[in-house]
Amino acid sequence: MKTLIQNGTVVNARESRPADVLIDGETIVAVLAPGATTLGVDLPGAVDRVIDASGRYVIPGGIDAHTHMEMPFGGTFASDTFETGTRAAAWGGTTSIIDFAVQYAGEDVLDSHERWRQKAEGNCAVDYGLHQILSDVQPQSLTAMDRLIGEGVTSFKLFMAYQGVFLSDDGQIVQAMQRASSNGGLIMMHAENGSVIDLLVSQALAEQRSAPINHGLTRPWQVEEEATHRAIMLADLTGAPLFIVHVSAKQAAEQIASARHRGQPVFGETCPQYLYLSLEEQLGAPGFEGAKWVCSTPLRSRAEGHQDWLWHALRTDTLQLVSTDHCPFCMAGQKDLGIGDFSKIPNGIGSVEHRMDLMFQGVVDGKISLERWVELTSAAPARQFGLSGRKGAVAAGADADVVIYDPAGRTRIGVNDTHHMNMDYSAWEGFEVSGHVDTVFSRGRMIVHDDAYLGAPGHGRYLRRELSLDRF
Ligand code: URP
Ligand code: ZN
Ligand code: ZN
Repeated sequence: MKTLIQNGTVVNARESRPADVLIDGETIVAVLAPGATTLGVDLPGAVDRVIDASGRYVIPGGIDAHTHMEMPFGGTFASDTFETGTRAAAWGGTTSIIDFAVQYAGEDVLDSHERWRQKAEGNCAVDYGLHQILSDVQPQSLTAMDRLIGEGVTSFKLFMAYQGVFLSDDGQIVQAMQRASSNGGLIMMHAENGSVIDLLVSQALAEQRSAPINHGLTRPWQVEEEATHRAIMLADLTGAPLFIVHVSAKQAAEQIASARHRGQPVFGETCPQYLYLSLEEQLGAPGFEGAKWVCSTPLRSRAEGHQDWLWHALRTDTLQLVSTDHCPFCMAGQKDLGIGDFSKIPNGIGSVEHRMDLMFQGVVDGKISLERWVELTSAAPARQFGLSGRKGAVAAGADADVVIYDPAGRTRIGVNDTHHMNMDYSAWEGFEVSGHVDTVFSRGRMIVHDDAYLGAPGHGRYLRRELSLDRF
């Protein structure tokens, strides 16, 4: 099947220009000056399908490098399966996800990885890769890291919080970092000081402070800044590259900025919830409502200026990309496990469907350029996580993961409108943004067009990722 996308503006991370895009099978074969002929051949006449993208942007499919489909957490499971979550991703113009295989303390890393591969296999609507979570780092975890790199799992997440569930102590963290510095893997860090959080949580509960806002008040920015600084120091000690996930505090971003200024290979992401939502407005909503926005790191105070600073960090490349940390839970039967005790609310927000639109709003609002939008949501995740060449660009030779995006369209977000995630509420209810995903191709197959889903579970393929050598 040959497809020609005509008359659009192709937007890549480095430039935007009017161009036509020729797709053959699963691959982009040419990006041509508008109306060009190839070797004298009249292109529209020589292809199977011509799509008019007049007035619209033609961008690389989004890459959401941080999702948790079906993740067990707090006595329940994230409510999107690989099937429902990747379908929602497709609706929103995201054509690749990188999820996290979870190893719990005492479990064999390779066994845990295999379980995750089986959960995803045959179920995904878009391409998917996996990072590996390591909890208790044992000698066999280090050899498993080497093995997994050979299988295209080139990044490993560690936690400085969640004692008894995910937490690795500093000695374990250093061992994993030492291994990464020799085998080329990337250490991703959940940077919050877990033992201080545990103390503050028990003090809050002892004082009957049980409402959802206490989730944020017991995880103040100092515990994020301290852990971020500690992780940076341990990475410096070992020579490992470091990627800080879900940065929400401006002080944590400042730690990353100063490490990068010294030339240390430290990188980071933030998520739409930290750019738009706040501790006061959402987490502090009346009654139990704030549970909808319980996630870790927590939403931060708008009065303290974190949101503005994070936009600044995205503009200046202190933070390189935007993921969602998609980890949805329903209110009924899941979030409500924490009525009367905020520490039992499962942590996570669902946004995989909305990231491209929410970040385009940053372009509309003048916070980032059009090209930076594409860089943050697609090109940079491809570069950071070993997918360069295949994903992250509208370029000859790349996979034909292409989105036709209408800047004049409107998208209303919410469970009452068009949301396709498996959640009984939306963290973004009532948001209406400029811009609309019109058409989505995943490896040449049209999977969304004119508000209809045309994809299928099993179309998405496992992404064997490379070691990334061009992160800076
Ligand atoms: O609240 C969150 N972020 N839930 C998912 C697990 C994690 O720490 O990323
Ligand atoms: Zn985390
Ligand atoms: Zn996460």
